[in-house]
Amino acid sequence: MIPEDIINEIKYRNDIETAVSQYVNLKRRGKNLVGLCPFHSEKTPSFTVYPENGSFYCFGCGVGGDVFTFTGLIENLDYIEAVKLLAERSGVTLPQDGYDDSMQRLKNKIYDINRDTARFFHSYLMSPEGKWALDYLTGRGLTLKTIRHFGLGAAPDSWDMLIKHLKGKGYSESDMVAANVVGKSQRGTLYDRFRKRVMFPIINIRGNIIAFSGRAMPGEDKQGGKYVNTSDTPVYKKSANLFGMNFAKNSCSESIILVEGNMDVISLHQAGFTNTVAPLGTAFTSEQVNLLARYTKEIVLTLDADAAGQKAIRRASELLAGSGLKVRVISIPDGKDPDEYIKKNGADRFAALLQGAVSDIEYRLLTAAGGIDTSSDDGRLKYISAAAEIVAQSDDMITRDIYIGRLSEKYGVSRTALTAKIDEIRKRNAKAKKKKEITDIIRPKISKDDINPERQKSVKATAAEETLIAVLLKNPDFHVTAKEQLPPEKMVTSLNRRIYETIISVLESGRNLDVSVFAQTLLPAELGYLVSLQNSEKADKNPEIVLKDCIRVILEEEMSASVRESAEADTGDWAANLQSLIDKKSKGKI
Ligand code: UTP
Ligand code: MN
Repeated sequence: MIPEDIINEIKYRNDIETAVSQYVNLKRRGKNLVGLCPFHSEKTPSFTVYPENGSFYCFGCGVGGDVFTFTGLIENLDYIEAVKLLAERSGVTLPQDGYDDSMQRLKNKIYDINRDTARFFHSYLMSPEGKWALDYLTGRGLTLKTIRHFGLGAAPDSWDMLIKHLKGKGYSESDMVAANVVGKSQRGTLYDRFRKRVMFPIINIRGNIIAFSGRAMPGEDKQGGKYVNTSDTPVYKKSANLFGMNFAKNSCSESIILVEGNMDVISLHQAGFTNTVAPLGTAFTSEQVNLLARYTKEIVLTLDADAAGQKAIRRASELLAGSGLKVRVISIPDGKDPDEYIKKNGADRFAALLQGAVSDIEYRLLTAAGGIDTSSDDGRLKYISAAAEIVAQSDDMITRDIYIGRLSEKYGVSRTALTAKIDEIRKRNAKAKKKKEITDIIRPKISKDDINPERQKSVKATAAEETLIAVLLKNPDFHVTAKEQLPPEKMVTSLNRRIYETIISVLESGRNLDVSVFAQTLLPAELGYLVSLQNSEKADKNPEIVLKDCIRVILEEEMSASVRESAEADTGDWAANLQSLIDKKSKGKI
């Protein structure tokens, strides 16, 4: 465990508002801040930051916690790693000896295995046996310098050469499987996952090799497909990384070029466009948008002008809409990918394409015209309605005005009519959005029942427990009274009992009560539950009276619950119990 005063020092230097702002566009709302949640996809902000007590909570997906939980979730780190990262960022030195927990040890092992695997693939590529792969790569126009720069390699046509190599280095079978460079059949046999493929190591922004992507030789992609990729592992989350980001992060302050494939990234880097990245064989995700938004102001999308490309543009624009990033689009002529285009036409022509990149609205307006004959009145009307839908999606009045001007001039419709039409569409869209928001609120993604499954035992007691916890978090001085009148074992639900016990033991040892003391023992959703209690307005008025009421309700419910339990336990004696109760009562009366 890292000493608490050091944790507090790190926390003091990394205030939650600044830390979160690096990833999320926050807007002030009262004393709190809100933004679009980076942990689930949403269009209206339900992610809330509470600077007052250094916590955050998402009303949409239920995650919450402190600055370390946040950093851990967004950087895919565990709690201790997040503490270390923020310590590093803010210049706090941690005492040396071992906070290595087993997860951290496993991650380090996987990094080591990946590094040794990449070296193995690279030397194989450069050896006489790997000639087929080197010929393939150079045949695609890559120079030796580029091959070395990207650490490319080749996997031999073998089921166990890598296993043997890694065993020779002393790695255990289970670690190799955890790294996912080695697979395990249902019968328990181990095998090399990548065979006879050219290998692309995937490197994160801190320079660790986190995964591999392997391309089959042309005509040999029957087994496993054209590309085989590492599945998600403790160090790799496909949807949160981008190929080439480790290099691009150094040259992308103005813009980042987003392409589809690994080979496109490599070719463009070789041609000098070192600000190019690609998603790793998945659809573009909001986590990737967050990563990009930390490094750049503008995304240039390169996509085909076909229907699939259109759809991809719409999806990417939607994802990028809330991120504050500018979006421009280039379409590569003749349906080529950037790699093919640059090989055929050279870097200058690609640079010219980049120069001509248009805004996403303009791009969509251009492509919407495809297939419509705008020389007829009918066709013009059709195009104008499609164009109005596109322009209506911009929330910027000046942008809309510019396009309204251009469209009305080009197609001979009046500005007023077009403006009215677009306003109408915007009203309709706003209504639909509102409706969706309402259904989103009615159907929250995580219900409190999922987090505290014992709620059914007694809804009344659980609610009282929650309020009591809220009171104590805000009025720590009450803990003495609370403990006297309500020993922790009387709590009806075990989650709240755990929280209550932690509160009491922290306060009894004279420490401060804040989210961080729970962060290592509660799951993110449980922590979210705690933060939501801490920031609720449940106990803002007359906390003393509220506390008393809560204790009374919990005790009553606990009694009836235990009476119920004991009654169920020995049903035979219920009559005798009842009799003795009646006896006592009547004695009292006498
Ligand atoms: P493409 O099929 O466009 O390949 O897939 P490419 O990048 O142009 O590759 P070359 O030029 O034929 O060598 C685009 C990306 O989709 C992912 C890979 O990341 C690839 O770079 N992909 C594709 C897979 O993950 N699996 C596949 O089977 C195919
Ligand atoms: Mn290609």
